[in-house]
Amino acid sequence: MTDLGALAGKRILLVISGGIAAYKCLELIRRLKERGAAVRCILTRGGAQFVTPLAVSALSEEKVYQELWSLTDEAEMGHIRLSREADLVVVAPASADLLARMAAGMADDLASTTLLATDKPVMVAPAMNVMMWQHPATQANMATLRSRGVRQIGPNSGDMACGEVGSGRMSEPHEILAAIAGFFAEASGPRPLAGRRALVTSGPTHEPIDPVRYIANRSSGKQGHAIAAALSALGAEVTLVSGPTAEPDPAGCRVVRVETAREMLAACEAALPSDMAVCAAAVADWRVDVAAGQKLKKEGAGPPALHLAENPDILAALARRDAGRPALVVGFAAETESVVEHARAKLARKGCDWIVANDVSAGTGTFGGESNAVHLIRRDGAPESWPRMGKDEVARRLAQEIAAALGGAAAR
Ligand code: CTP
Repeated sequence: MTDLGALAGKRILLVISGGIAAYKCLELIRRLKERGAAVRCILTRGGAQFVTPLAVSALSEEKVYQELWSLTDEAEMGHIRLSREADLVVVAPASADLLARMAAGMADDLASTTLLATDKPVMVAPAMNVMMWQHPATQANMATLRSRGVRQIGPNSGDMACGEVGSGRMSEPHEILAAIAGFFAEASGPRPLAGRRALVTSGPTHEPIDPVRYIANRSSGKQGHAIAAALSALGAEVTLVSGPTAEPDPAGCRVVRVETAREMLAACEAALPSDMAVCAAAVADWRVDVAAGQKLKKEGAGPPALHLAENPDILAALARRDAGRPALVVGFAAETESVVEHARAKLARKGCDWIVANDVSAGTGTFGGESNAVHLIRRDGAPESWPRMGKDEVARRLAQEIAAALGGAAAR
């Protein structure tokens, strides 16, 4: 549970852009005010088509800012001051248009100018039609914004006001509230991993068969990405080496994208020295020895025989380094039976310090799902079984365990 008390006394600048979801921001303002936050609002022209300045002003108990070229507004509070006198800027709803203008660095109205001029953290809650959200232009804009440290909440999937179904619904006010509270709790929380470096692997690997086909697996990257975010939240300087996933880059981490196991190993070695390594990637055990240079064709003598070669074991390679071994090397074990016994054997075989073992047998919903039931197995110590919890929560708890275990000096 996020501590909503973290909101008391915080100053939020809420940018309301055009979209039917704008009505939800009235509820958001009310809830933020209830928890003691001060809310100042910018309402775009599009936003004012959906909610009135009067409603926004009445709930926020503040003047609503609407125009860039307003003599009175500029006299009372210049847009630069408006952008700086906040602890967090929240854009909700964030329309496709405003995200595009933010990504392009435009400054043609009060909202975009303020977002360009601010030196404060920014969080966006996208809301739009599913096709608009999925459009490569929007996805590219969002990726650009994330790479600049903009935090993203949602969108959710479900029925949309336009009658279509899919991803693009703005997160609910209580979810945005929790994300804002989470941001402040994190920012003011202890940073026991400050000054330490962390290496995290995540996602599947893709091993080419020919130029169009590859060997892969069902890993979503959710757990690994959440661990990178959790270590970063505790102050670590994180390098996330990720195979192909649809997961957004976690804010504040350096992300190195790779395709194959061999590329992942090279990227991990390049990221050393590191105080800790957490190998959460589902690395393909085998690759096609020599991938075909051209697309394999059906005609000929039946199906091709694929000659497989074993991939390097990244976890074992990191754990067994003589020089520059991370002080704590954590592996994952995906098992379908005798989970703890198999995981213990894996820990010994690979030479790592801890293994996080999870049951991925059919029906557990762990692969691609939101939750995970894990056992933490230390080299010497009884296994700890954690109750089923969200992957974010598993990540936070693991990060705390790592912080508690890593006493002493950093790896530099
Ligand atoms: N791992 C790795 N490189 C590989 C294979 C696995 O770094 N080539 C890491 C994973 O990131 C994970 C751990 O090793 O942390 C365990 O992976 P898992 O697939 O569960 O085990 P395997 O080594 O494949 O063993 P088995 O197939 O016998 O279960």
